[in-house]
Amino acid sequence: MFQIFENTRIGNMVLKNRIVRSATWENRATDEGFVTDGLIDFTAELARGGVGLIITGISYVSEEGRITFRQTGIHRDECISGLKRLTDEVHRYGGRVAVQLAYGGGKSRILQPEKPLLAPSDMEGEFFGKAPSRAMTPDEIESVKEAFCKAALRAREAGFDAVELHAAHGYLLSEFLSPLCNRREDEYGGDLRRRARFVAEVIEDIRRTVGPDFPILMKVNGDDFVDGGIKATEAAEMASIFEMAGLDAIEISGGLFGPDRIPKDLIRRSIRNPETSAFFLPQAEEFKERLNIAIILVGGIRAVEMIERLLFEEKVDYVAMCRPFIREPGLVNRWKSGDRAPSTCQTCGRCLLKAFQGHKVQCYRHRKPVAES
Ligand SMILES: Cc1cc2nc3c(=O)[nH]c(=O)nc-3n(C[C@H](O)[C@H](O)[C@H](O)COP(=O)(O)O)c2cc1C
Ligand code: SF4
Repeated sequence: MFQIFENTRIGNMVLKNRIVRSATWENRATDEGFVTDGLIDFTAELARGGVGLIITGISYVSEEGRITFRQTGIHRDECISGLKRLTDEVHRYGGRVAVQLAYGGGKSRILQPEKPLLAPSDMEGEFFGKAPSRAMTPDEIESVKEAFCKAALRAREAGFDAVELHAAHGYLLSEFLSPLCNRREDEYGGDLRRRARFVAEVIEDIRRTVGPDFPILMKVNGDDFVDGGIKATEAAEMASIFEMAGLDAIEISGGLFGPDRIPKDLIRRSIRNPETSAFFLPQAEEFKERLNIAIILVGGIRAVEMIERLLFEEKVDYVAMCRPFIREPGLVNRWKSGDRAPSTCQTCGRCLLKAFQGHKVQCYRHRKPVAES
């Protein structure tokens, strides 16, 4: 019987409530990936608003793995001082913050003609990025693992409370997991164990590097929602390999997307009734059955009553939201103060569409919110 407002612990990170801001690409770094004052304000506002754990937007661990222009970088030691300013500000308001570490793989949006996009297998097409990508060599696999480790060390040095590996949505780590994208015939492709191997080694290497207590979280697809992609039972089985490798918590999302395909599963664009909210719950339940680590559920959660029910029934350990916090960073404190009206986010997805057009992530919907009509 969990409650929203109780202290919990993931590794050595103590959290004051069970509400997580799911990773949200901010489009607020400099063109070189450095932290700006705007990015710090955007993040600190969530800490002021009572979020238990803030997960930053997708941050690149190496220049080749960069996905888009004003994305935050954690690929060089020069990034550390700006990131430290950000974590200090979050801590000043009693918040906790994890950085989301990612490598774009075939989804990289920054085209670097001299450096072909790396992926598990040679790929081209709807799900596989703007340019053809090619299968990584064993040396490249080693160097990407090293890039993740170095980024995790920088994260610890910059004062982050945890790291979250982005292994969902079709970026490099999830491409290795998905039978649709991973067609390798060596020890990193084939059956479930082999496809899980690269991600498991990333976790093991980071664990060795950061020590036993620093929390490592990961976001995965409970279902790719495409023919030939990963399904919940297999994804949950892979997750038990990641638990053994040293993972502390896992966030369940879903959906594969490429630059030419709207990510309709990952950010569904309407919630008509309680049954269509918490849209990855069936997948999360498979993970909960198998694993002993904390399960974080994201996707379509908008009402405090729904969160209370999920926690009361111990369906999941933490509940994460993205768009509600774009619209209303103070949502948690509003609920805590007794105003229990649901999030006024209308789940329209304009914030993401605008971000793809190069605008800052913020709420672009100004009509009267549903909850007030
Ligand atoms: C503007 C925007 C930016 C996002 N950026 C990221 C990101 O950087 N990393 C990530 O894992 N998911 C990202 N997502 C997906 C969200 O974290 C979340 O999984 C999804 O929006 C479903 O949750 P929600 O219904 O609470 O918005 C983003 C979504 C939106 C709308
Ligand atoms: S634009 Fe605003 S209302 Fe629409 S999904 Fe984004 S935060 Fe919610």
